[in-house]
Amino acid sequence: MSTVSAGALAVGLILGTVGGAMADLPTEDAVLRKIIHAYGIESHRPVEGKLGPVELLGQALFFDPVVSGPKSIACATCHVRAKGAGDDLRLAVGLGAKGVGTERLASKDALMIPRNALPFFNRGSTDFVVLFWDGRVQRGPNGALETPLGERLPQGFESPLAAAAVFPLAEPDEMLGRSLVSGKVDTYHGDLVTMGSEEADNFQERTLVVFDNLLLRLLGESGSAPNAVQSAYRALVVDAFPAITPDSVKITHLGNALASYIRVAFELEQSPWDHYVEGNLSALSPDQKKGAILFFGKGRCVVCHSGKQFSDFSFHGLSVPQLGVGKHTRHIDYGRAAATSRGEDRFLFRTSPLRNVMETGPWGHSGVFSSVEAAIRHHTNPVPILYAAQERDPDEAAYAGRLLAARSPLLAEMPPLTNDDVGLLIEYLRTLSSDTVMSDREAVPKHVPSGANEFLN
Ligand code: HEC
Ligand code: HEC
Repeated sequence: MSTVSAGALAVGLILGTVGGAMADLPTEDAVLRKIIHAYGIESHRPVEGKLGPVELLGQALFFDPVVSGPKSIACATCHVRAKGAGDDLRLAVGLGAKGVGTERLASKDALMIPRNALPFFNRGSTDFVVLFWDGRVQRGPNGALETPLGERLPQGFESPLAAAAVFPLAEPDEMLGRSLVSGKVDTYHGDLVTMGSEEADNFQERTLVVFDNLLLRLLGESGSAPNAVQSAYRALVVDAFPAITPDSVKITHLGNALASYIRVAFELEQSPWDHYVEGNLSALSPDQKKGAILFFGKGRCVVCHSGKQFSDFSFHGLSVPQLGVGKHTRHIDYGRAAATSRGEDRFLFRTSPLRNVMETGPWGHSGVFSSVEAAIRHHTNPVPILYAAQERDPDEAAYAGRLLAARSPLLAEMPPLTNDDVGLLIEYLRTLSSDTVMSDREAVPKHVPSGANEFLN
């Protein structure tokens, strides 16, 4: 925290000392050049990638619903490419629903995922050391991967993203499904869970069994003849990993393939801000420059939204309410604390990376903000949304105090923002938008091995 305060102090000094060699530049540019220099701000340099055999395996797994328990949902169902790899929904809709994106709201029996789906832009970058809203998959201080599987994490994942990519497969409401207790076939985990219900209640035990059973489903058993889908996946893994036999493919190979695909398919081009950082002073409009100065200066956004992805990959409390649905109980999502089991981490969430943020609504971990403006205003004054939440549901009142108690003290140092300030900040955030390097035509396959082609979007 001390370096953060020092940084913010530095901006104050910078703003007061414009002059010298910069004197001939228009004032905003001079201030911004100093800010860029003082913070060591670098541009994003996209890495060109193409779909090689490993990525093609990842692409098949990403779009093929055969990987889910009831074979009815794919990664692409929620991570919709045309919507910036999010789904446009406040909360994701899991198994039991039909269609993609907002179409999924029509299914009233569907299982809700109590968090806003995250987009995949630049997720292949090594900057992403922390994945998910609560960072439950991350690269730990000693470089080792830390995940909900603890010591039992299979060895061989190449990156935090590769490990993160396989956990959705084992989440009951997201892709795995549940037992037939309520008799619902469209949410049944099928052959992916093959153990007594008592062992199946143990998350680690079940997850490892699901991974093994998924490999059997996709690749078949050694010695028995593969079906058509298994033959297609065997061909893909032989191409992707020529040094090993299909029978020695592990969940780590699938995670690495998914991560390789996500990396090349969602890598971003440079945005106007990157061009500006590299010296193109006309890449930003005058208002966008004013917004940038607010972002790095008076608004103190950079205290948390730092680096090339605009996140410190750390966790802060913003007092964002759940509106009824919660990951841990009806009104509660403990956020970071669920990953660390530490009381002081309750209600903290990962600082949202801000590239393409104008495209990725709704916003906030519970999708409670329907505009970027509302999300920004909430940082300086959480009362209106907490108040509206309890008007709607009196039970929310009981949680507002807990959320406020966990509010980051860094936010108290932010000045009140005027309407003009918020408008300028939004102008600046627009300069963080860019297209993916890879076209949709190349990123989306023509068909998937199982033939269930309904999520090719
Ligand atoms: C039912 C909708 C749904 C499906 C299906 C789904 N996801 Fe997600 N995904 C989400 C939601 C919601 C989040 C945010 C959850 C959280 O952070 O706890 C998320 C987050 C992620 C993240 C973290 C991104 C980041 O910025 O940290 C990765 C990686 C990811 N999903 C990969 C996948 C892969 C790979 C698949 C398919 C194997 C998949 N997801 C299937 C809804 C879904
Ligand atoms: C104390 C750290 C901190 C500061 C300072 C901060 N933010 Fe945030 N910001 C966060 C966190 C954490 C989240 C996610 C909170 C959640 O959903 O629970 C977030 C979310 C957001 C979102 C929503 C993103 C999304 O994808 O849902 C926007 C937009 C945003 N911040 C912009 C700003 C701007 C503009 C400023 C400066 C005026 C700012 N932030 C200052 C930590 C911070």
